[in-house]
Amino acid sequence: MAGRVEGKVAFITGAARGQGRSHAVRLAEEGADIIAVDICEQIESATYAMATEADLAETARLVEAQGRRVITRVADVRERSQLAAALEAGVAALGHLDIVVANAAICPIGPDVPAVGFFDSVSVDLVGVINTVEAAFKYLGSGASIICTGSMASMLTGLVDNPAAGPGAAGYGHAKRAVARFVHEAALQLAPLNVRVNAVHPGNIDTDMLQNEAMFKLFRPDLTNPTREDAQAAFGSSHRLPVTTISPRDISEAVLYLASDAARYVTGQQLKVDAGALLPSMTSGAPL
Ligand SMILES: NC(=O)c1ccc[n+]([C@@H]2O[C@H](COP(=O)([O-])OP(=O)(O)OC[C@H]3O[C@@H](n4cnc5c(N)ncnc54)[C@H](O)[C@@H]3O)[C@@H](O)[C@H]2O)c1
Repeated sequence: MAGRVEGKVAFITGAARGQGRSHAVRLAEEGADIIAVDICEQIESATYAMATEADLAETARLVEAQGRRVITRVADVRERSQLAAALEAGVAALGHLDIVVANAAICPIGPDVPAVGFFDSVSVDLVGVINTVEAAFKYLGSGASIICTGSMASMLTGLVDNPAAGPGAAGYGHAKRAVARFVHEAALQLAPLNVRVNAVHPGNIDTDMLQNEAMFKLFRPDLTNPTREDAQAAFGSSHRLPVTTISPRDISEAVLYLASDAARYVTGQQLKVDAGALLPSMTSGAPL
C-alpha cells in the first residue's frame, strides 16, 4: 500500500533530534525522502545543549532504515545562504520539494539569561521560520504543504511570560505568537497557488528543550535543585488530558496529516496538540 506522503520530498529544520527527527522518520515511514538540516552548534544564550553532527547522522540513519533517501546539511536557520545551499543540494539530489517543516527553535530559560537571549530567541524562532519558508518557496508548486511549529506555552499566561522565565523565554513567546500570525497571513497569500500553510502548537513535549535543568527550575521553583522526576508532574499541570509530557511522535502524526493530501483543503489552521491545555483560555472566544 502506498504511504500517505509517498514520493514527496520534505525539508525539515532542527532535524537532528527531538521532534524534528521524529517528523523526519514518520514522514519517511510514509514514503517521503528528507532534506534534514540542523545547526549542530551551541547558541551561547541557550541554557541547554543544541544537537550535534552525530545526532544529525543518526536521523539520517533512521530515515535510510525506512528505505528512503536523505540529504543532511549543517545549517543555521538565521542564515539564509546556508538554508539556500542546503535546499539547492537537497532538491538537486531528490528532484523536487513538496513539504516544509519549519521546526527549529531555541528556548533559553531563566532570569540569568542575558538580554541578548531575547533577540536570539526571536532570530531563531521567528526570523528562522520566515527564512526557512522563504528559502523553500521557489521550489514549491501546486499541492505543496508548509508546516510551522508554534507553541502552546506562547499562548498561555504564566509560562514563558513569567518574569522568572527571563528574556530568552519572553523572546520565545513573542516569536511563537508571531509564527501563528505569519502562518495565518502566509496561508491567505499562498492559497491561490494551492500551497497550504499550517501551524502545529505542541504542549509540553518529551525532548531536550523541556528536559533540562533550567526548565526543571522554572517548573519547580519550590526546590533548590529539582530533578527530572521532580519536574515531571509539573510538566503536565497545563495539560487537561491526563498526560505529563507528550511524545514527539504525537506531534509527528499531526505534521504527517497536514503534509499529506488528506489535508489538501486544510490551510491556515493552528493545530494544537496540547492535551487540551489551551481550552480554558479560549472559553471567552479568543480567535486562536
Ligand atoms: N519540547 C517542548 O516542550 C516544546 C513545546 C512546544 C513547542 N516546541 C517546539 O517544537 C520544536 C522542536 O523542538 P524540540 O522539542 O524537538 O527541541 P530540541 O531542542 O530537541 O530540538 C530543536 C532542534 O533545533 C536545532 N536548532 C536550534 N537552533 C537552530 C538554528 N538556529 N538553526 C538550525 N537548527 C537549530 C537544535 O540543534 C535541535 O536539534 C521547536 O520549534 C520548539 O519550540 C517544543
